[in-house]
Amino acid sequence: MLIRDSSDIASSEITPKETFLSRRTFLAGAGLAGAAALTGVALRNLADPAITVSANAKIEGIQKSSFSTNEQQTPYNDVSHYNNFYEFSTDKYEPADLAKNLKTRPWTVVIDGEVKKKLVLDVDAITKMASPEERIYRHRCVEGWSIVVPWVGYSLNNLIKRCDPTSKAKYVEFTTLLDPKQMPGQRINVLKWPYVEGLRMDEAMHPLALLCFGMYGEVLPNQDGAPLRVVLPWKYGFKSAKSIVRIRFTRDQPYNTWQQSAPAEYGFYANVNPNVDHPRWSQAKERRLGEFLKRPTLMFNGYDQVSGLYSGMDLKKNY
Ligand code: MTE
Repeated sequence: MLIRDSSDIASSEITPKETFLSRRTFLAGAGLAGAAALTGVALRNLADPAITVSANAKIEGIQKSSFSTNEQQTPYNDVSHYNNFYEFSTDKYEPADLAKNLKTRPWTVVIDGEVKKKLVLDVDAITKMASPEERIYRHRCVEGWSIVVPWVGYSLNNLIKRCDPTSKAKYVEFTTLLDPKQMPGQRINVLKWPYVEGLRMDEAMHPLALLCFGMYGEVLPNQDGAPLRVVLPWKYGFKSAKSIVRIRFTRDQPYNTWQQSAPAEYGFYANVNPNVDHPRWSQAKERRLGEFLKRPTLMFNGYDQVSGLYSGMDLKKNY
């Protein structure tokens, strides 16, 4: 990311200070996060969700997933207090507090581009389209730290199938909310806003690609991308766009934000690949948040089942 000097790099290597924050502090901070009652707004094309979503509300009916790792999970407090969310801050400790008042209900997602019919869906209708699963995934940030998180969601392909993309849809583009009033980081041109990410259609259809609305059995805290994000465990974390308001099917490869910002450093694919150094640091190893020693980074972050998506591609060029 925008790491400019070695002192910045060092900051991602130390034991995170959020381990000192109590859960109580977090609860106070996340406070009103999703507390607004839903008023059944803007739901078209699907049945009435009529739900109230509270901060830290438990998600009912979560199934286990065979895609889960049994590695030790990163504590909730670390995952919710060490965040890359540039819409709020470039400092990883600040989004927990700065995002606490983000209004996540009502929230609609526009689905357009190469679809038979444009849709405007309420987020709570989306979360109900398939049974929620707990997917305990490794998540590797391009900066060299990693976490193991029990995300809650379902395979993105469930939603895609409901969207009726046309045969011309070759890619899926995700766009984050643009609202500088609520997102102070957007008042600064540190990135080109809104944040955009994308996948090739076959990547998006892969069962590992998760449409995510919770973690640790509860609704997502705002700083982790409430109310709706994607999680692509075989790719560097920046591909996993947060707080999504638009899903667009396209013929052409989306021009993702990090590629726009630093094309020599961040490409479209961003598959975790320990054999391709970032121009400014090695990607061979990573440090789990809360651990001292580094561990080797695995190709595709250990998710070898996606390798077939890239057969015949030079993943050094297509970084
Ligand atoms: N999505 C948006 N909209 N804005 C961001 O700054 N940061 C990305 C990704 N998604 C980012 C984003 C990066 S760099 C990472 S590592 C992950 O979110 C971090 O997700 P987490 O905070 O839930 O661990």
